Amino acid sequence: MTSETGSLEAYLDEHRERRHAAYLDFLRIPSISGIPDHAGDCRRAAEFLADQLREAGAENVEVCETGGHPVVYADRLHAPGAPTVVVYGHYDVQPVDPIDEWVTAPFEPFIADGRVVGRGAADDKGQIQIHVRALEAILATRGELPVNIRYVFEGEEESSSEHLDAWLEGNRWRLGADIAVISDTGFFDGNRPAITVALRGVAAVEIHVQGAPRDLHSGQFGGTVHNPLNALCEIVAALKGPDGRIRVPGFYDDVVALTDEDRAAFAALPFDDEEYRTSVGVPALYGEVGYTTLERRGARPTLDLNGIWGGFQGAGGKTIIPASAHAKITCRLVADQDPDRIIELLRAYVLQVAPPGVTVRVDAEGGGRPSLTPIDHPATRAAARAIAATFGVEPLYIREGGSIPVTASFTSILGLPVVLLGFTNDDDHAHAPNESMVLANVETGIRTIAACWDELAATGVDGLGA
Ligand code: BES
Ligand code: MN
Ligand code: MN
Repeated sequence: MTSETGSLEAYLDEHRERRHAAYLDFLRIPSISGIPDHAGDCRRAAEFLADQLREAGAENVEVCETGGHPVVYADRLHAPGAPTVVVYGHYDVQPVDPIDEWVTAPFEPFIADGRVVGRGAADDKGQIQIHVRALEAILATRGELPVNIRYVFEGEEESSSEHLDAWLEGNRWRLGADIAVISDTGFFDGNRPAITVALRGVAAVEIHVQGAPRDLHSGQFGGTVHNPLNALCEIVAALKGPDGRIRVPGFYDDVVALTDEDRAAFAALPFDDEEYRTSVGVPALYGEVGYTTLERRGARPTLDLNGIWGGFQGAGGKTIIPASAHAKITCRLVADQDPDRIIELLRAYVLQVAPPGVTVRVDAEGGGRPSLTPIDHPATRAAARAIAATFGVEPLYIREGGSIPVTASFTSILGLPVVLLGFTNDDDHAHAPNESMVLANVETGIRTIAACWDELAATGVDGLGA
């Protein structure tokens, strides 16, 4: 151990309690971005984070208006000639439903059995904590960072980052950098350290099917008019074939096919279908024929209903032909699919297969682009060395199924290569009841981030451009 890492360790040891207390305080703020009533809580979380950054030694800390929930910006730019990094995370969280399935209250976090339990523990407040504590510890022990950092922590990731692209455009002047590091992904199955090299995009629509202007008596009218719920089911049934392939014409046109090398990389990952099946808790796995489970998750697009409603939902019966029926659908997209084009194709197909006798509308509900990052980029190599040095194993390189729309925006708007360096465990129950984060991932992650900044400084601006 060098004296520098020795003093970092001593500092982190000494401040463990305070660090964990701040993490739990952050988790107590119910910053659910998707529920309008929580707008004040989102702002409180932003202010809390801004204070934490100031205390840690960040400068130019600002809670920035976006038209939605604020972005927290901060920087520390005292490493002339060294690379500049944009660090991204999100302080907003998902809703807590179904609340009854939480063993304890979602916003009363606690630490037990080596895990931090509470909404946002993993996705993504724990990862923001890693960055703030790495900053604090490096400044306290070495006086300065080895690289320049601009922190961008947003508050709308869980509700489609509606205002973020415009904010990035408007803040180009203070977002000049060499690379972006996004900490909002995690380790591979079995909590094996990993760097994510691909994320899927997303395209969302709602289908609204209208019949008569009011519910009808199903005896008086049944057999004479189409039922909007039945019609919606016909439409939904036409979307996918028994082979798991999506039937929307043109849907696969822009999908980058897997090369033999890609397939070999998937096959080389330590993964067992049966173990995965039991861990998810389903009687059988399902997906597009011709692809393995990991290929389906990381490199193939999907179409899934997220909700469907209409008609009578209460206890007992009600003999009606409902006036309307509705469905929420999202597609996960892979490179190079474009969400706007996918929504157009989906709309055209739904209207084409819609039976006569009902009126069908397809509303676009937003989307985000997929991303692919090169495994051999010097910044990825630097992050890999930092993981190896702190977790003691070489990282796996994985393609993930989730979406972080800003990943593509950092490249398209700011021209930055992105490293997806995240630390959550695969069994974190993100978005679900009893979310948790393995505390050791957070603790070691702080060391990884510190090591990563040193590795990037050693690589240098020229090395990163290579
Ligand atoms: N952190 C996740 C994204 C993620 C999930 C990355 C799993 C890697 C593996 C992020 O907070 C998230 O949940 N994103 C949403 C985006 C959507 C609301 C546009 C998602 O993927 O559903
Ligand atoms: Mn997240
Ligand atoms: Mn999430």
